Amino acid sequence: MPRRISDDIIARINDENDIIDYVSQYVQLKKTGRDYSGLCPFHHEKTPSFHVSQDKQLFHCFGCGASGNLVQFVMRTENLDFVDAIKLLADRAGIIIPEDDGFTDDNHEKKKRILEMNKCAARFFYSCLKDKKLGEKGQQYLAKRNIPWKTITVYGLGYAPDSRDLLLKHLAANGFSVEEAADGGLAVRREGKIYDKFRGRVMFPIIDVRGNVIGFGGRVTDDVKEVNGYKIPKYLNSPETAAFDKGRNLFSLNLAKNSKESDLILCEGYMDVISVYQAGIKNIVATLGTAITENQAKLMLRYAGEILICYDSDEAGVKATLRAIDVISGAGGRSRVIKLGGAKDPDEYINKNGVEKFKEAVRKAVPSTEFRISLIKKQYDTTTTDGKIMFIDEAANVLASVKDAVEADAYITKIAEDTGISRGAVLSKYREKTSGNRHRRIPMKTEYRKQTERKERETVRKENTTPTLIAAEKRLLGLMAQSKKLYKIAEKRIKPDDFSTQVYRKLSRLIYDSYDHDNAPEPAIILNSFDSDELSEASEVFYNFEVYDGDEATVAELLNTITLEKLDIRIKNETNAAVLAELFRERQKAIEEKNTWED
Ligand code: UTP
Ligand code: MN
Repeated sequence: MPRRISDDIIARINDENDIIDYVSQYVQLKKTGRDYSGLCPFHHEKTPSFHVSQDKQLFHCFGCGASGNLVQFVMRTENLDFVDAIKLLADRAGIIIPEDDGFTDDNHEKKKRILEMNKCAARFFYSCLKDKKLGEKGQQYLAKRNIPWKTITVYGLGYAPDSRDLLLKHLAANGFSVEEAADGGLAVRREGKIYDKFRGRVMFPIIDVRGNVIGFGGRVTDDVKEVNGYKIPKYLNSPETAAFDKGRNLFSLNLAKNSKESDLILCEGYMDVISVYQAGIKNIVATLGTAITENQAKLMLRYAGEILICYDSDEAGVKATLRAIDVISGAGGRSRVIKLGGAKDPDEYINKNGVEKFKEAVRKAVPSTEFRISLIKKQYDTTTTDGKIMFIDEAANVLASVKDAVEADAYITKIAEDTGISRGAVLSKYREKTSGNRHRRIPMKTEYRKQTERKERETVRKENTTPTLIAAEKRLLGLMAQSKKLYKIAEKRIKPDDFSTQVYRKLSRLIYDSYDHDNAPEPAIILNSFDSDELSEASEVFYNFEVYDGDEATVAELLNTITLEKLDIRIKNETNAAVLAELFRERQKAIEEKNTWED
């Protein structure tokens, strides 16, 4: 991704901000050896596997693989894009960025325009709702749903009139073209024409934690589902745009994040959130018309100790709850489940029973493991022996997935008590289920290694390389980056294009480039050229403990390994006998070379 930001500015920002200093706001860091370490802010852990290097100005988590420089740390913790993260760090260091620095990238510009346009549209929808004539239907509908003006203002709700172009005209008057409206998701193209997307709907602006209107949800005001055989969706949502990533945002988190409660309630619908919020319970959010993603779970866990799932009580809601439990646990968090009897969703419940009853239900939220086990229990008649056997068998499956051994143990006791089966028998069922993964409580480093190994296997398949080759190249690049002397030796024998993965080729070009310009490569700056999906692979080259030691002999050995591995790959794929013979001769030579300096 080309970024038109001057290197000077980035270098200054890097000079004036210290990664240790910044990260310390989030993580209690302790000096360990050359590095600092602490508990990873990006996943839940009890022993520190998060390392920060002051020399390299990089962070790296050996638990979850999160890795990068200070800018990337800021991007993740503050949920900012690259340009905004740079701005934050510039501000912090008192660096003033000249307006004409070209301090933008194309995507950032586009995003800014959409956000401005959305704000303009939100104001328009609000003024339409206020308008006696234009907003009549919207007003009636919200009154019917018990939403007073106070709430309407807090959420900035609005009404999109039933018209093809009222919004488009308003946007045009404010300098936004129809094409921009269509690209920004406020208008739709149909048969060569462009119309307002939202027509005759109550509008719910979706606002991110920084207060930007990133998109909208719009609800019909009656429950007509079909017109002329065309099915009309109850809610229409903005499409994803440069400014709107549904999987990384939540409805009402901008308000919920200010709540003093330590937990966060997660429900399904916009109306659920609004009803509960206006009753004074502010720590509530909803996903944006899609199933919960891992990124959303991580985002919530940044603000919450535990997530209290409060989905609809129908079958789909229960299924979604089980999924959410999984996703949240995968993101390293804990969840409980709020059960609302006698109502289909939180909105209906609170309107029917009042806020005190809702608060009581929140207090009684059950731990997710208990919820899962109780669901299984419902499927069997546990007054019979057969029923008990089947129940215990399935419950043991659930327990086998519980990460905390103490928690699992507590449930084993509880199941034994509930069924009257001996604790020993339940325990052995549990052991049977977990025996396949005896090392369930995998130490973090191993887990991380597994993860990288999997990624490496994928790369191997895609790029015609081998794990040995990748390991050798990784270490070689790391050594080259940290020592000009070693670079000089290696550079004669290996060129950027010779590296076997795309990320390494790009990385080596940047390293070679730095030396060509008489600069020592700065890992923290080089990493700015990588997108998030390449980051871990690139960052590992620098953040690799083996790289702390290595000399000329190591470089020679690595180059030799690379040569041999590449020859082996070619030999495997070669069918021509003459070429094969030549490859074998080369291979023999490389082996002899290896032996000479191994003696
Ligand atoms: P529900 O159908 O449960 O609606 O959808 P609700 O929130 O209870 O809405 P009301 O009370 O009838 O007004 C839950 C959520 O799923 C998304 C919306 O985000 C909604 O809030 N959804 C639903 C859509 O995106 N499109 C739809 O057509 C329906
Ligand atoms: Mn509802």
